[in-house]
Amino acid sequence: MTGIRNIVILTGAGVSAESSVATFRGPGGLWEGHRVEDVCTPRALARDPELVHRFYDERRAKLTSVEPNAAHRALARLDREWPGELLLVTQNVDDLHERAGSRRLVHMHGELKSALCAACGNRTAWEDSLPPETECPDCGTPALRPDIVFFGEMPYQMERIERALAEADLFVSIGTSGAVYPAAGFVQTARYHGAETLELNLDPSEGSAWFGESRLGPAGELVPAWVGSLGI
Ligand code: APR
Repeated sequence: MTGIRNIVILTGAGVSAESSVATFRGPGGLWEGHRVEDVCTPRALARDPELVHRFYDERRAKLTSVEPNAAHRALARLDREWPGELLLVTQNVDDLHERAGSRRLVHMHGELKSALCAACGNRTAWEDSLPPETECPDCGTPALRPDIVFFGEMPYQMERIERALAEADLFVSIGTSGAVYPAAGFVQTARYHGAETLELNLDPSEGSAWFGESRLGPAGELVPAWVGSLGI
């Protein structure tokens, strides 16, 4: 990979799978016992706030019992040592990338350890359970909700992501099914701007055909090997 200077990496649930964090579209298609549309849409939140808040409380609480894996650690090493531009865009809402040490990081679908005020839009770091109608520390309105980007809502920092993709020499997708846009379209944007494209995934994804190269296997093996191939 000669001449590579600017790298954009996209991760999905597969990068956290070896840390025992459930993926979305595993066997049975249920996400921790729920249909995604019952816990990850604005309608679900309006229809049953108790269920939705409890679902994310349970996942937030689980974070204390999981650890970053070799893939997270290799990406953090790359973040520390890569001399060019590097942006790690994750669809994941767990905190494993930052706990491994990644800094040049964007959570485009939000974060479990954050609360969003539906009234004033402010985001607040949040560690514990978040019952419905919790007061916002900034505006006082009882309108805090999980800071998760639901289906139909705009992901975070899309302009920053689009700019990085336009400048990228290499786009690497790790552990994502390519089922959800706009993330699933990033490979096409990167290719359009002339980037090399690489996919590291356990199974072929819905977007595999768009990648210049696809390597199949567990992220815990493929990612350290790829980072090593960059001389890091
Ligand atoms: N190593 C690498 N890849 C893996 C591993 C592993 N150990 N285990 C699973 N995978 C791959 C699967 O083959 C699959 O392609 O990870 C992918 C997980 O796909 P999904 O469960 O669909 O998760 P993701 O792609 O992150 O979902 C995207 O959908 O529900 C929304 O907002 C939610 O961010 C999520 C988005």
